[in-house]
Amino acid sequence: MQHFDTEIIGAGGPGISRAAEALRAGQLVGLPTETVYGLAGDATRDVTVAAIFAVKERPRFNPLIVHVADATAADRLVQFDRRAEALAETFWPGPLTLILPRRSEAPVSLLVSAGLDTVAVRVPSHPVARAVLQAAGLPLAAPSANRSGAVSPTDPRHVYEELAGRIPLILAGGRADVGVESTVLDLTGSEPAILRPGAVSAEDLAAVFGAVGFAADTDAQPRSPGRLPSHYAPATPLRLDARDVAQNEALLTFGPDLRKGDHIRNLSEKGDPAEAAANLFAMLRELDRLNLGGIAVSPIPETGLGVAVNDRLRRAATPRHSLPADGTAG
Ligand code: TXA
Ligand code: MG
Repeated sequence: MQHFDTEIIGAGGPGISRAAEALRAGQLVGLPTETVYGLAGDATRDVTVAAIFAVKERPRFNPLIVHVADATAADRLVQFDRRAEALAETFWPGPLTLILPRRSEAPVSLLVSAGLDTVAVRVPSHPVARAVLQAAGLPLAAPSANRSGAVSPTDPRHVYEELAGRIPLILAGGRADVGVESTVLDLTGSEPAILRPGAVSAEDLAAVFGAVGFAADTDAQPRSPGRLPSHYAPATPLRLDARDVAQNEALLTFGPDLRKGDHIRNLSEKGDPAEAAANLFAMLRELDRLNLGGIAVSPIPETGLGVAVNDRLRRAATPRHSLPADGTAG
């Protein structure tokens, strides 16, 4: 893999121009979106998309989300139906990814689809991501900017920790405010199915077209290969729904909790699941760095963004060694 002296630059006008230039030259750039930081590259170039897989050490069968400036740009890549149009109208720009049938003439690398006949498309709302998409004038493949299987980055420093030396440029645009990745909705089956819960909830989606199911994790042919049981995993084992803390454990708590200390983080003292989502990955990183015997995690209600938080925590709690031998996580 090529070595780079990774630079972190501000996301003002000159930073946006440099990022756009680097992307047009086929280089990879870490950049903020409203959900988490992405590792962006020109989705039209095979070599660039292949480099994204290499830099992340991502398994080749795990497809990538293509980020575009608007629904018109998405329409060049995939076939919209009435449901997709209504959803795009309501939730774009924003944290919703739609899986739709790939157009045969779609001008993006086949590698983004990883062998599927679909493409995941998303129009991000983060002003920096939007400015870069505008300036580069390209569809950008952008997975979360972490090494495969690790916790997603919500801050430019996390991207540096994960990818320093592997990419030339990180655009620093503050903390990603949602904190968990976009909702992934599969519209290729007869019924829409949520493949990954996120900030756009099942209730939000149902308001547009009636009830929406969650795809079962046990699908024989998972429609979202990224939904592997162990994902977003810190090195320290997690113990979920913990009502107590053991000697050698850190504590990730939620809601009114008077316990304080170096080994304790509170996702949201006021008990707000959205605030918990925003803090989740940064706090997991901090507690993981303590190298204790474990991290006890207090129960978090399954309401609003709590669904996405609990989804990520369950994946983070699945031991890494339960993965297939080829190390399959995204
Ligand atoms: O919020 C987000 O979506 C972030 C930011 C950077 O935009 N991106 C992100 O990308 O989370 P990534 O690659 O870490 O996760 C993409 C997920 C994976 O679970 C992948 O398997 C699934 O979307 N996916 C992508 N293309 C797909 C397709 N054609 N069919 C089914 N699942 C797909
Ligand atoms: Mg990811």
